[in-house]
Formats: sequence, structure tokens, C-alpha cells
Amino acid sequence: MSLVVFPFKREDPGNLLKNVKIASAHPRVEEVLCVGFEEDDCFRTLAAAAPKLSKEQGKPVKVMVQERLGELRPGKGDGMNTALRYFLEETDHQRLHFYDADIVSFSEEWITKAEEAADQGYDVVRHYFPRASTDAMITWFITRTGFALLWPKSVLPWIEQPLGGELLLTREAARGLLADHRVRRQSDWGIDTLYTFSMVKQGFSLYETYMGVGKLHKLYGALTDLKTMLVECFAAIQSLRGIELTELSTHQVEFPGPVPPEVKEKLGYDLERTLPLLCRDWTPEEEDLLALFPPEVRAGMEACRSFPKFSFMDEEAWRGAYEVLLDNFQLGQPHWESLLFRLWVARTLNYTAQHALRGYDHALYYLHQMIWRYARLGLRR
Ligand code: LAC
Repeated sequence: MSLVVFPFKREDPGNLLKNVKIASAHPRVEEVLCVGFEEDDCFRTLAAAAPKLSKEQGKPVKVMVQERLGELRPGKGDGMNTALRYFLEETDHQRLHFYDADIVSFSEEWITKAEEAADQGYDVVRHYFPRASTDAMITWFITRTGFALLWPKSVLPWIEQPLGGELLLTREAARGLLADHRVRRQSDWGIDTLYTFSMVKQGFSLYETYMGVGKLHKLYGALTDLKTMLVECFAAIQSLRGIELTELSTHQVEFPGPVPPEVKEKLGYDLERTLPLLCRDWTPEEEDLLALFPPEVRAGMEACRSFPKFSFMDEEAWRGAYEVLLDNFQLGQPHWESLLFRLWVARTLNYTAQHALRGYDHALYYLHQMIWRYARLGLRR
């Protein structure tokens, strides 16, 4: 029997309550836990509703504030790890499901499909779903790119949504994750990267189950909305560099279904509000950092100070920039964070203009081929 967890921070309480009800009504689910970042309005609404819900459903529905467990910015990582600890120390349920609180299309099927794969013996089940060709820009250009360059022979580059927050862990996999000090330390947005890396490092078997309905979460405005996530996801990859993977994970991916037109036609971010981010607010310190980069990257970024440029930031230029970032980036250093963000914006815009504009099918094919080329080439050195 299973525990379902929703980590949340300032969510729409109506949607979260709806998802909690769906989860607690599922025959495989014995308990539902919502872990809040803080006692915000959403938290209070849920906490007030929980006793009645528990009674109606005949199973516990709990709401708690996340503990301070890690060492980085307190964020989603502390929330997920609080849930891991609760699951292992306070319950004897066999399986733990995580779902992001903002899924609008949540249904009992998300739970059923994960349970079915776990019944087949997989240690970890990860949900994946179709995403717009200009969504998932951190996933593609930071996480999957990094996995391909650094661990090309592992299953890591081939995991469809390594930053996905919807997954099932068996008790053994949960125990393995919580025992990993790097996982416990990662209190910020880097947590998804750390869970993914740690489950592969420990050789757990993975199944990726396809949810055709997608997640229908809200999309982003200008790419600035993603800056903190970007910086923390990159720093997470950087912190793992040099670790060797010796265990062999098995990895099976459910074949995807047809992609709905809403996803194919959706725009991932606001182009007009993103372009000026390349030019705005350069400091002399940030400009000095460009000296470390390959000539084509340096020249392109220098030109950006007066006009948005991005044709230079192709796949090969990004490989060179990524390598310099791995060697030199400093988390918490504003000039480095700003430059990482700008370089990634240039890469995202280049991809949008060169590939996403050609249509969904071309774009997704390109992105998968790009990962294959990175895995073949590795770092330049
Ligand atoms: C990603 C974030 C943006 O997957 O959702 O890249």
C-alpha cells in the first residue's frame, strides 16, 4: 500500500484539494501527505480541510511544514526529503508517490499506472508527458546536456524528464535516496537532479510511464521566471561532476502516444520579454568573465551588450560554453549567475529560431539527436 505526497508552496488550494481527494480515493493509497514550504494561505486552507477529508475518506490526510534538512537554499528539496523521512520513519507503507501540487490534469490514472509498473518489479517509476517544443529548456540544455557530456554511457541522458516531480519510489529506493548525503544536502531546485542521479548511481531499475494528458501546468513568462531554477539545476550537475557510475541501472520507457495539438501549438515562453534580457544590466565584472570562454562565445556575448544576438550559440558553441561553466561557475556569485542565465537565454533563443520554428516534430527530433551527439562527443578536453 502507498503514501501519496504533494510538496507545495503558494498553490491554488482548490486545485490541490481536488488532487488530494483523487489520491485518497484510490484503492492502493493508504495515506496522503501535503508538505508545505511555509504556513501560507494555501497551507491554512488545507490544514483546516484535512480532518474532515480524513474522516470522509476513512484514511489519514495530513498537512505539515517542511523541515530544514539540507544545506543550500531552503526549497523543494527540503520538502521532498521531509516526505522521504516521514515515509521511512513514521510509516510502514510500501511505496511513495510524489506529485507536483499544480497538476491540473491529475487523475487516478497517474497513480494506477505507476502502481502497475511497480507491480512489475521496477524500483522507481517516473511519469513523463508531452511538453511544448519551447518548454523544458532547462531539462534539455542544462540537465540532459550535462548528463550526456559527463555520463554518456549511463542511462542518465536518456531519461525523458530528469527534472520531473511525478514519481513512485519503492521503500528500498526511498531508503537508498535518503541515505545519500548529497541528496539530503540538496534543499533547493537541484533536488530532482539529485534524485535522478542517485537512483541511477545506486542501480535501481527505472520505468518511465507516459501520461498522454500531460501536466497542463502554467507556462512561463519571460525566461527570468526560471532563473533561480536554472542556476540551481546547473549547480547540481556541477556538484556531481567527477562521480563515477559503476552500477548498471535498467531503464525502460513506455512508447509515447500521439501528441495533442494544444501541446504542439503551445508557446513555452514570451519571446518579446526575453530578448532584452541578453542586453540589459551588464556589469564590468560580468563582462570580464567572458575572457574565459571560447572566442565565438565571447564575441557573440560582447555583441549582445548593444543588441540581442544568438545565432552564434549553436550546439557546438554551447558545448564549449558548458565546459567553461562546469570548470568555473560559482553558485551564489551574482556575476556568474547572471552570465550563466544570459548564455542559456542565447542558447534557448538560438534553438527556438533554428529548430522550434520548424515545427514540433522537427524540434523534438532535433533535441533527441543533439543529446546523442553530445553523448558521442563528450567534453572537448
Ligand atoms: C524544465 C523546466 C523549465 O523542465 O520546467 O526545463
